Amino acid sequence: MTVDGMLTVDGMLTAGGILGADGILAVNNLSKTFHIYQPERTIKSCGDISFRLREKEFMGIVGPSGSGKSTVLRCVYQTYIPDQGEIVYRSRLFGCIDLARASEREILAVRQKEIGYVSQFLTALPRITARAIVENSAAEGGLPPGQAREAAAEMLAYFRLPAELWDIYPYMFSGGEKLRLNLAKAMVKRPRLLLLDEPTASLDAGAKGLVRELLLKLSREGTSMIGIFHDLDFMDGLCDHVLTMG
Ligand SMILES: Nc1ncnc2c1ncn2[C@@H]1O[C@H](COP(=O)(O)OP(=O)(O)OP(=O)(O)O)[C@@H](O)[C@H]1O
Ligand SMILES: [Mg+2]
Repeated sequence: MTVDGMLTVDGMLTAGGILGADGILAVNNLSKTFHIYQPERTIKSCGDISFRLREKEFMGIVGPSGSGKSTVLRCVYQTYIPDQGEIVYRSRLFGCIDLARASEREILAVRQKEIGYVSQFLTALPRITARAIVENSAAEGGLPPGQAREAAAEMLAYFRLPAELWDIYPYMFSGGEKLRLNLAKAMVKRPRLLLLDEPTASLDAGAKGLVRELLLKLSREGTSMIGIFHDLDFMDGLCDHVLTMG
C-alpha cells in the first residue's frame, strides 16, 4: 500500500514516510463509527481524518458540536479504537508505533511517560487526594519521590487551587477546580505530546490566562500539542495550524 507515495510496512507507515524527519504524530484516514443496539443505530463519529504534527508544534481542532473532535483525541490516546486508519507516533520508548494497533503494554507505557490527556469531562478519582493525584503523575513521568512532591505542590499552587483542598478527595470540587486539577495532573510530567479537550471550558478569565501561559511555556520547552478550543481568541497566537472538522 502507498500513502502520499510512501511505502507502508505491515500496514504501518514507515518513519521516513508520512511522519517525515521532524514529525511526532501522523494520522492517516482515521475513521470511527459506533454501533448502538437499543435502538439500533450507526453513528459515524469521524471519517477520513488525516493530519501531521511536527515536533513542538501546536495544532488546534475546531468544528461544530458532534463533528468528532473528541473522538480524534480519544483515538490518539486509545480510549477509542478506530475502525480504520493509522496513528503513527514517534515514541521515545519504542520508536515509531501505530497507536491504533499497539499492544496494551505499549499504550500504558506511552501514557505514563509520554502522552498526556486532559478530558473535556471532569473526572477525578474518588479516593485519592488532589495532591496524590498530581504527585503520582509526576512520579509516573519519572521524577524521584521528593521531587515529585515538590513538583506537585508547585503545580497545584500555580493553578491556584487553595491549599486546604490539596489533601482532600476531589469528588466534591467545583467544575473549575476539577478541571485545574486535571490540567495539573497532565502538565506536571511535561509530556512529549499533550492532548487537550476543551481545557478551559469552565474556567474564568484569570484561570484561562494561567493555562495559556503554561501551555506556551511547555510549547517552548518542546511539548507537542493538540488542543480543542471553542474560544477562538484563546487559540490565537497559540496554534501553529488548525484542523477544521465537520
Ligand atoms: N462512546 C460513544 N458511543 C456512541 N456514540 C458516540 C460515542 N462517542 C462519541 N459518539 C458520537 O460521535 C459523534 C462525535 O462525538 P464527539 O464527542 O467526538 O464530538 P465533538 O466534536 O467532540 O463534540 P463537542 O464539541 O460537543 O464536544 C457524536 O454524534 C457522538 O454522539
Ligand atoms: Mg468534544
